[in-house]
Amino acid sequence: MHSSNLFVALAALAPAVLAQAVSPCQKVNEQQTAALKKLDPESVNPYNLQFLAFFDAETAYQCITSIPINNTEVAAMVEVDKKFLALYSTIPFLKNPPKSYQQPSIDVMGRLDEIAEKAKRGNYSNFNQFELDLVAINRGVYDTHFGIVNGPTGLISYSLPYGLVSASVDGKELPQVYAHSDIIDKVSNPSYIFEIEGENVFTYLQKYAATNSVTGMLDPHADWNQLMYSEATQFGSWGADNKNSMALGGIQTTSIYNGKSLKGKFSNGTQFEWKYVASSAALFISSNITSGEDLFTVFGLATKEQQEQEEALKKRALANQTTATPQYVPYSSYPKNPIVIQANFTRGGVVSGYLLSDNSTGVLSLPSFSSRDDYNEAPEEYSVAVTEFISQARKAGTKKIVIDLSGNGGGNVMLGYDVFRQFFPKKNPDALSRSRATPLFDILGRVVEKSGKLIDGTPETEFLLQLQSDFSNAGDLNPNNTLTSDGKHWGSWKDFAGPLKINGDNFTKPWKYDFSLPGNYAPFQTYNISGYGTNEATFDEAFSPDDIIILYDGYCGSTCSIFSNLMKNVGGVKSVAVGGIPQNGPMQGVAGTRGSQVRQHDSMAQYAELIRSGLLDSKNGSREALRSELGVSLSEIEDIPSTNQAPWKVSMALNVSTGNLDVPYQFVYEAANCRLFYTVDMIRDVTVLWEAAAKVAGGDTSACVTGSVDGPGSERNKPLVESPGFSYSDVWKNANSTRLLAVNNTSGGDDSDSSASRMTMTASVVVISLLTTWLL
Ligand SMILES: *[C@@H]1O[C@H](CO)[C@@H](O)[C@H](O)[C@H]1NC(C)=O
Ligand SMILES: *[C@@H]1O[C@H](CO)[C@@H](O)[C@H](O)[C@H]1NC(C)=O
Ligand SMILES: *[C@@H]1O[C@H](CO)[C@@H](O)[C@H](O)[C@H]1NC(C)=O
Ligand SMILES: *[C@@H]1O[C@H](CO)[C@@H](O)[C@H](O)[C@H]1NC(C)=O
Ligand SMILES: *[C@@H]1O[C@H](CO)[C@@H](O)[C@H](O)[C@H]1NC(C)=O
Ligand SMILES: *[C@@H]1O[C@H](CO)[C@@H](O)[C@H](O)[C@H]1NC(C)=O
Ligand SMILES: *[C@@H]1O[C@H](CO)[C@@H](O)[C@H](O)[C@H]1NC(C)=O
Ligand SMILES: *[C@@H]1O[C@H](CO)[C@@H](O)[C@H](O)[C@H]1NC(C)=O
Ligand SMILES: *[C@@H]1O[C@H](CO)[C@@H](O)[C@H](O)[C@H]1NC(C)=O
Ligand SMILES: *[C@@H]1O[C@H](CO)[C@@H](O)[C@H](O)[C@H]1NC(C)=O
Ligand SMILES: *[C@@H]1O[C@H](CO)[C@@H](O)[C@H](O)[C@H]1NC(C)=O
Ligand SMILES: *[C@@H]1O[C@H](CO)[C@@H](O)[C@H](O)[C@H]1NC(C)=O
Repeated sequence: MHSSNLFVALAALAPAVLAQAVSPCQKVNEQQTAALKKLDPESVNPYNLQFLAFFDAETAYQCITSIPINNTEVAAMVEVDKKFLALYSTIPFLKNPPKSYQQPSIDVMGRLDEIAEKAKRGNYSNFNQFELDLVAINRGVYDTHFGIVNGPTGLISYSLPYGLVSASVDGKELPQVYAHSDIIDKVSNPSYIFEIEGENVFTYLQKYAATNSVTGMLDPHADWNQLMYSEATQFGSWGADNKNSMALGGIQTTSIYNGKSLKGKFSNGTQFEWKYVASSAALFISSNITSGEDLFTVFGLATKEQQEQEEALKKRALANQTTATPQYVPYSSYPKNPIVIQANFTRGGVVSGYLLSDNSTGVLSLPSFSSRDDYNEAPEEYSVAVTEFISQARKAGTKKIVIDLSGNGGGNVMLGYDVFRQFFPKKNPDALSRSRATPLFDILGRVVEKSGKLIDGTPETEFLLQLQSDFSNAGDLNPNNTLTSDGKHWGSWKDFAGPLKINGDNFTKPWKYDFSLPGNYAPFQTYNISGYGTNEATFDEAFSPDDIIILYDGYCGSTCSIFSNLMKNVGGVKSVAVGGIPQNGPMQGVAGTRGSQVRQHDSMAQYAELIRSGLLDSKNGSREALRSELGVSLSEIEDIPSTNQAPWKVSMALNVSTGNLDVPYQFVYEAANCRLFYTVDMIRDVTVLWEAAAKVAGGDTSACVTGSVDGPGSERNKPLVESPGFSYSDVWKNANSTRLLAVNNTSGGDDSDSSASRMTMTASVVVISLLTTWLL
């Protein structure tokens, strides 16, 4: 949605006059109810209704901080979480990252211990304080696959009437920060923002990124872009469900309270004060929320009932939008004449394609790899739209192809493979991952391996069959799904799980998925992924890799990272990154997460619980016999964390990574081949950006930011594992300076023959694209 729409909605907010004795949550309830009454349900997407029903920000904060905490319970909870979180494969590297990593290190386990200690000392006086400590860990991991928060704090959003953008006047001068509305409304000679809250705008934004973001990006330039309003990010995040107005993005919306208003000064000396207003995914009235206790009871536990409510709402919103589905991206910077759009566009469809410059440039806009999960044909429709685009562009004699991945936080991993194979039907998407071998991981895998051998003849057959079936799609927890790096089957669980010692820690051998299994090449009921089974392409390469360019805004992660790695290292395609902190020099394009398989806390907990409860239940002593046949002791089984120990559920996703290098992909440095600054024109009209990217595909790097051409790690199969010559603090310190940072272009790779070594891959078909507090 537009900042101007929000502004109108703000004007409609009637400050309710309330008696003092009323609790803040009761006040929120009343204000939200009053605001809802003023909205016309016929003109608003039902999914967005409550996001437009604004109430007072400070009252909302008082409500959220009135949620009580039981320090004993949260301390116990943290201990349970630690066992699952240990499966997060980058834990040891986050504590001790290589110099190529561009963010500060973090000791995740140490931080959780501190939180548990603090709770044991009774030092949290409300639940929000505790959650903010967890959010700080989330952010500090700089990985969109990591998320340990799913509590009530994320229920409240605080929004400003305006967002920010940063743009250069001509593409060469360093960008300045502007109010988005000044740019989009074409205000002549807009003044840039000079100061926020009494600090230089760059100092303030660095601090904001480090303290107010919910998730971070692995490159500070990408962190910067995340503070800005971006239509691609908006559309990519919500377009797939047609709920596009609910998140405003960047600094405009936060779930971490940042005061009643944001004050600042423009370069012309004019001061501004933008007021925050609050809104909530929770309908306080229908859930009868009148106190902090209520809020926790209803929303502190991520109950099934609540998820069902969300799903019902989504379905209703979709049902109501059937005829209103636009035939173009519903944001003002996008052209209204795509040559191809995905079926059910904006109600599950996000793919659009364009021809520019008398058909010489083709643009494939992929702001997400998500497809509606409630609709079987959605992945096929995504794939078909890409096929249709390639076919039309070939017919029109298109020379250059821009694949715009701006805002693409990931999605369905098999669609990443599919699109790669559509561009390179004959190239193998070979990709390796590595998992962290913790005691929990080892015991689950050992039991499952042995269970296969015991199925006949034991009285426990039913339980064993259950194990077999539950673990058949458990990704790396069942080595029958995977192969060794040279394509062989594993000899045993031990052969797979080792452990191998790397960076002082235990890991599995590198593994890859077995693409000869139908479960992997035919993950959808309706079609096989391109290039597999019966779905063969009729050409070798749709376009020469030299004529394709990938465009990034840094948000790319998860499936987008997998796709990018295949395009770059297997396909040989170059890339452009746009935006970043105002300064010359390179930027990385893939900075969301480079992890592969996501382990959702819920599914891990189910696997663990199945084995735990199955082997603890000792009717007739038969479980004891089974335990001994499976080769596990009672104490090992008792040590498996029980989800019942946790007072509430957390949404937590873990990634295993990465190639057979000893450094996970997440931590190497890989600059895009060119970096562009956003110009004012590009923000108003995305085709200006697309044309600029297409020029780079033509070999013309004249528009690239000084010092950004073929930067460190940009070469195919040569990511940098040493310092690129600068670090997190150098980059922020030099914001708004034209001084070029020293660039270290030495390649860190030594086994450049193996493209597979830098690949990541994903097991689960549905990979969450981003983890935000909206998940509740
Ligand atoms: C906190 O939780 C513990 C463990 O569930 C329980 O024994 C205790 O009574 C709770 N304290 C309060 C004040 O509710
Ligand atoms: C509780 O936290 C405050 C600051 O957050 C600190 O000053 C105080 O020492 C802590 N108290 C205990 C008992 O740990
Ligand atoms: C200063 O610039 C801001 C932002 O462009 C604008 O809104 C404001 O009207 C300007 N003030 C004056 C006095 O021109
Ligand atoms: C950025 O640097 C330029 C040139 O030194 C200066 O004119 C401008 O005011 C600076 N911007 C901010 C926000 O400090
Ligand atoms: C809210 O309260 C009303 C009246 O007390 C009751 O009928 C309704 O079931 C409650 N709703 C929920 C979700 O608890
Ligand atoms: C469409 O929205 C209206 C208003 O929110 C609602 O009453 C109606 O039930 C919705 N339609 C469907 C098919 O759910
Ligand atoms: C759109 O989605 C619905 C299911 O939600 C499906 O029935 C329909 O065939 C899809 N395709 C088109 C082109 O509308
Ligand atoms: C561009 O391609 C379209 C579709 O193939 C065609 O109709 C149109 O005439 C072409 N335009 C130019 C200028 O070649
Ligand atoms: C793995 O495959 C082998 C050979 O087909 C089979 O015997 C075994 O039961 C399978 N193991 C599991 C856990 O599915
Ligand atoms: C690695 O595994 C070995 C057993 O194979 C164990 O003794 C050691 O403590 C583990 N190291 C870590 C860091 O977990
Ligand atoms: C996928 O390919 C296999 C052949 O390998 C074929 O038997 C199957 O019918 C195909 N599935 C679909 C949905 O086209
Ligand atoms: C550049 O990389 C080399 C190794 O490739 C490393 O030894 C050196 O310290 C790096 N230099 C800087 C300035 O970071």
